[in-house]
Amino acid sequence: MTILGINAYHGDSAACILRDGKLLVAAEEERFRRIKHWAGLPTEAIKFCLAEAGAKLSDVDHVAINRDPRVNNFRRLLFVLTKRPDFGLVLNRIRNIRKAAGIEATLREAFPTETLHAPVHHVEHHLAHLASAYLVSPFAEAVCVSVDGFGDFASAAWGMGRDGEITIDGRVYFPHSLGIFYSAITQLIGFPWFGDEYKVMGLAPYGEPKFLNEMREVVRVQSDGTYRLGLKYFRHHNENVSYTWNNCTPEVGTLYTPELEKLLGPTRKKDEPLTQKHKDLARSAQAMYEEVFFALLNALHKKYRCDQLALSGGCAMNSVANGKVYLNTPFKKMYLPAAAGDAGGAIGAAFVLQHGVAQHDG
Ligand SMILES: [Fe+2]
Repeated sequence: MTILGINAYHGDSAACILRDGKLLVAAEEERFRRIKHWAGLPTEAIKFCLAEAGAKLSDVDHVAINRDPRVNNFRRLLFVLTKRPDFGLVLNRIRNIRKAAGIEATLREAFPTETLHAPVHHVEHHLAHLASAYLVSPFAEAVCVSVDGFGDFASAAWGMGRDGEITIDGRVYFPHSLGIFYSAITQLIGFPWFGDEYKVMGLAPYGEPKFLNEMREVVRVQSDGTYRLGLKYFRHHNENVSYTWNNCTPEVGTLYTPELEKLLGPTRKKDEPLTQKHKDLARSAQAMYEEVFFALLNALHKKYRCDQLALSGGCAMNSVANGKVYLNTPFKKMYLPAAAGDAGGAIGAAFVLQHGVAQHDG
């Protein structure tokens, strides 16, 4: 059985081929287009993966994509009805969902001389993340955690992986997101590009966590180990923060309100030097991230009483925090995929299909 896994219409578009349960090849579209984090349908990566696997599009038995526009619709509707967000925000999201839903037709358009027989399967974003870690890990049993920006209206998910089956029984839903918190501080420090968060992580050790108390206003740890954002500091939940996801490097509008600048100081402008204050902000954001991350992991260890952890999601690329998991939590073994972010979602979606993992919500 040949499965084509893809992450499309999102940053870090990617493709992979699984044949009879074995990952033969995986590639990110940015490597071919020479545009970092390129978003859209990863046609070049698909071509490369097919060539490496010695296959044609017509040889593919199944296509798996790491988005499922049908999930969490009740949550989406409830959000629109109760929060009444900007119409542009709703429209933007509907367009993006439609694009992910129409992937079959777009694949046929992109490969006009080839025939696609394979059905396209939509795998919920976080199930794909969790699978990209757990289903390729050496563990029969593991606590599975995805900590992310957003995907399918949720920003985090967790549950247990047992004998190749993942049961998801907790999520953090839009608009609350640890990834959005980190991205907002990244923008405020003056790094506006999609994927610039690693610069803040790298800057952090040059500063002191002098703004940690202020950060605790911006993101708040809950008694159950989950977290919520102080929403007055953020725009993404009631205004249209523009995200562009098609045929380009992803662009993200400003995620925060002027309230965040009142709390932490003005945004560093283009060509303005990095001062000690910016380094202290970076250290404070990293310290806050770690506080939230370890609160969640400790709560999940307490809940599941399992010492093995399979970690994924865009935030799981925070290698500084990952390196402290054994110091700050009781977990004894951890598996992290090489592509913990959305590119790896292509691999996770393909493995979900391969294992016939049904989505179980507790
Ligand atoms: Fe993601």
